[in-house]
Amino acid sequence: MSNKAAPEPKANMGGPVIRKEARLKVTGEARYGSDMPVNNPAFAYLITSSIARGTIKSIDLAEAKAVPGVLEIFTHENTGELKKVSYGANGGGSTTSIQDFGPKIQHDGQIVGMVVANTFEAAREAAYKAKFAYDVQPPSAGFDSKGVDESSVKKKLPNAGDVKELYDAAAVKFEASYGTPTEHHNPIELFTTTAVWNNDQLTVYEPSQFMHGLKNNVAAKLGIEPGQVHTISNFVGGAFGAKAQLTPRTGLVALAARKLNRPVKLVAARDQGFTIATYRAETRHNIRIGAGRDGKIASFEHEGWEVTSRPDSYSVAGVEDSARLYGFASVKTGVTLIHADRNTPGFMRSPPVVPYIYALESAMDELAVKLAMDPIELRRVNDSMTDATGKQWSSRSLMKCYDEGAAAFGWSKRTAAPGSMSDGEWLIGYGCASAVYPTHIGAATARVQFNADGRANVQLAAHEIGTGVMTVVAQMAAERLGIPVEQVQVELGDSKFPPVPVAGGSNQTASCCSVVMQACDAIMEKLNGGRAETVGGGSADGVRQKFDRLGVSTLEQYSEFVPGDARPNPVVGLVTNPIKKLYDGVPTLVGGSHGEKLMYALGANFVEVRVPKYTREIRVPRLVGAFASGRIMNTRTARSQHMGAMIWGISSALHEATEIDERNARYTNDNLADYLIPVNADIKQLDVIMVPETDNSVNPAGVKGIGELGNVGTAAAVANAVYHATGVRVRELPIRLEKLLA
Ligand code: MOS
Repeated sequence: MSNKAAPEPKANMGGPVIRKEARLKVTGEARYGSDMPVNNPAFAYLITSSIARGTIKSIDLAEAKAVPGVLEIFTHENTGELKKVSYGANGGGSTTSIQDFGPKIQHDGQIVGMVVANTFEAAREAAYKAKFAYDVQPPSAGFDSKGVDESSVKKKLPNAGDVKELYDAAAVKFEASYGTPTEHHNPIELFTTTAVWNNDQLTVYEPSQFMHGLKNNVAAKLGIEPGQVHTISNFVGGAFGAKAQLTPRTGLVALAARKLNRPVKLVAARDQGFTIATYRAETRHNIRIGAGRDGKIASFEHEGWEVTSRPDSYSVAGVEDSARLYGFASVKTGVTLIHADRNTPGFMRSPPVVPYIYALESAMDELAVKLAMDPIELRRVNDSMTDATGKQWSSRSLMKCYDEGAAAFGWSKRTAAPGSMSDGEWLIGYGCASAVYPTHIGAATARVQFNADGRANVQLAAHEIGTGVMTVVAQMAAERLGIPVEQVQVELGDSKFPPVPVAGGSNQTASCCSVVMQACDAIMEKLNGGRAETVGGGSADGVRQKFDRLGVSTLEQYSEFVPGDARPNPVVGLVTNPIKKLYDGVPTLVGGSHGEKLMYALGANFVEVRVPKYTREIRVPRLVGAFASGRIMNTRTARSQHMGAMIWGISSALHEATEIDERNARYTNDNLADYLIPVNADIKQLDVIMVPETDNSVNPAGVKGIGELGNVGTAAAVANAVYHATGVRVRELPIRLEKLLA
């Protein structure tokens, strides 16, 4: 039965099947990494640096070691066996401290030691009693600090046409700067690692978005064979990108367990999660647009600045996508990295587009004001199947999303002038903005077993980070094998299963469903003896008869799926062997703007804000998001993804920011109490519209991915609505009431 949480499927959408793991989760039976029972564990507590830049001068552990129950304290002085692993988005090292586990300090909160004791309390007490003396150097905290280094990104960014000439000739010129703050993921499940050795075989229980990346990189860190490492992560209690890469703690815990010959369990403290894992660093943007009076944009320039750590060149560089969203006649883009004494940033829900599309979609709204044009009409005028570089979109439903969203929201009731709509003391603002997310797809593998009793078992090292992958994979298998979804079991979250890419960049459903489809189709071909019977279509008796005809009781298929753009290509030499790379822990994601066609999911966000005339606290009573992203596997899990993402959008628009003490390059609100996020009372009416779209050219499953799309447009829509309500344009997130009082 359909209801708001379980929307009726429209064209090219799967039914609202209830999550396979729903019961386990609501009854508390689902076991997360640190819940896994191990025999007689010792407990670890991290010691982190109290300075951001300098060198460890001396360590005094006498008092710490005297705490009853302490087994060992690890520092850089007794962990020389740990190897350096390479940086990069392949699941390898993310923060600086993995490379330099002392004595050099490169950011505040760097791991400098770890106590292991018989109890958690003893380990924590000893950690507090460990004395580290430093040679301190003054740190650089971020953009405006003295002593930062600069570099430009190494990616090839879009540049096309004569931007300068077209800008100079444009009838309407617009230029503005925007900024976004530091943000941390704050997953409810903390960063944990449990390591157990059995002779020379290591098992690591750790919440992870990339089982085979973790496996290979732990092996590299310890200097052992990947075959000696088994990683397990059945459920992940919130990830959002922070659990995608190997971080410093894992090798350390594994080494401690080996040295002590005993399982070691680490649950890092909430504040430590701010510095031992990745986060979204602050960004700045300058946008310059030259347009005609009709709104057609002739020249678009987007220059970005991002903060990163000293040694790492991690960049987001969402100009790759902002430069393609509309049919600009010419584009010029660039991104500069500012290296400060900070931990290395990383993926955070909807990289690379979130900060960059906030800037673009704010600028589009400002341009519409300047042109005295409806902001939706401005998007329509610039809607195009071709970008400035001449690339074609594989499919593009942006204006359909605007039309459906506008109708549901009641956009036609909007009067254009700022402050022109009110309800008593409350000013009312309507705002809209586009959402866009690159459709990523990667090489993936899976094993499917189909039994004569009509039951199937799917194994793949996918990641249930809350996205519903277990359920949608089961739906795909059920559809292709022609059996009820209840008869499909899905096993994932374990490196003993065939590898799939990192659960990041919204590729997981596309990649996993494509390979499972391939495996199931191969089984059905064997089962149907090459006859062109429709896939599935079997009653239980029908399935049994087919197996009897073959004289077997079970059929098993291991499949490897390689997306077109990732196939070995002798001309461009793009990817040599994506499946081998995947087994080595390196995902090969293609898509977005990097293939022959532009492959993106799109959407339109609508927001109503209410701001009191005098006191200026901002309320968001109503949100509508309309999204088109190819095939929707499950309308329930899809709606849930969009809803959570849109709420996160409110968060980044109005609340979220990691505050930094400039003197010490230290995060100050590194907890949940001071880190502002919306609560239930902040979220009123929220409607998700899934706009039907079919595009089977993106991948066999026809899935564009939705994990991140819903989080992209909300912040700009809120900012635009706040302007409409108050006439105040805030160009720095978050928009807090003090910014509306000036
Ligand atoms: Mo998502 S930030 O790519 O886990």
